[in-house]
Amino acid sequence: MLMFPKIIGHRGIPHLTPENTMASFRAAVENGADGLETDVQMTKDGELVLIHDETLDRTTNGKGLVLTHTLSELKSLDAGSKFDPAFKNEKIPTLREFLEFVSGRDLLINIEIKSGVVLYPGIERKLIHMLHEFGLGHKTIISSFNHYALVTCKEIDSGIKTGILYMAGLYNPWDYAKTVHADALHPLFYSVRPETIGGMKASGLLIHPYTVDSPGDMKNMIALGASGIITNYCDVLSKMKAGG
Ligand code: G3P
Ligand code: CA
Repeated sequence: MLMFPKIIGHRGIPHLTPENTMASFRAAVENGADGLETDVQMTKDGELVLIHDETLDRTTNGKGLVLTHTLSELKSLDAGSKFDPAFKNEKIPTLREFLEFVSGRDLLINIEIKSGVVLYPGIERKLIHMLHEFGLGHKTIISSFNHYALVTCKEIDSGIKTGILYMAGLYNPWDYAKTVHADALHPLFYSVRPETIGGMKASGLLIHPYTVDSPGDMKNMIALGASGIITNYCDVLSKMKAGG
């Protein structure tokens, strides 16, 4: 009997709310998420904030790089109106605000370190330090496309769980994952090739495909035995779980 995968809200629930805002994280949980995925970047003054892009332009009324703004400058921005004016009071959340929200809730936390286009020296240590401050290290998987960042995380804390993000049809990705001491595979769901499924399952690694949005693709990922599914539609996956 297959366990139903964890329902992991990608940036919250971004088809109903502005992505990576506290409104989106709250709504994802209200719509059946068992876990939350979010993206962490660093401000000019070294604060950790949750925003997908390295730049402010797409999701806020600001411009330019996150890295060239202080937290107080970022907090003056509107991170909701571009999605819908009804969300004009939404701000870019800090990691701390997010961890305050998830504390005491039974949620899997997936924090993606966005250090590829822009490098943020020291982001791994700051992230892990704050996870431990909240006692949330054991509920968290740190993922990244920058696998050097994941190795750094393991050097800081060998007990923290990491997941490799990848988009390509890697050959035996579980073997590679072990070379960077990862605990989980986070493949783009298209790159979960039929010939890799047996090896993925046998590896004992957690399997968290992204970003799985259509009911057909959700069913395929359930059938392969994914441990969790990262989706923009946690409401749809939650209804599927309930048999709807
Ligand atoms: O963690 C899965 C997914 O979020 C990775 O891609 O670009 O949506 O952050 P992206
Ligand atoms: Ca992400």
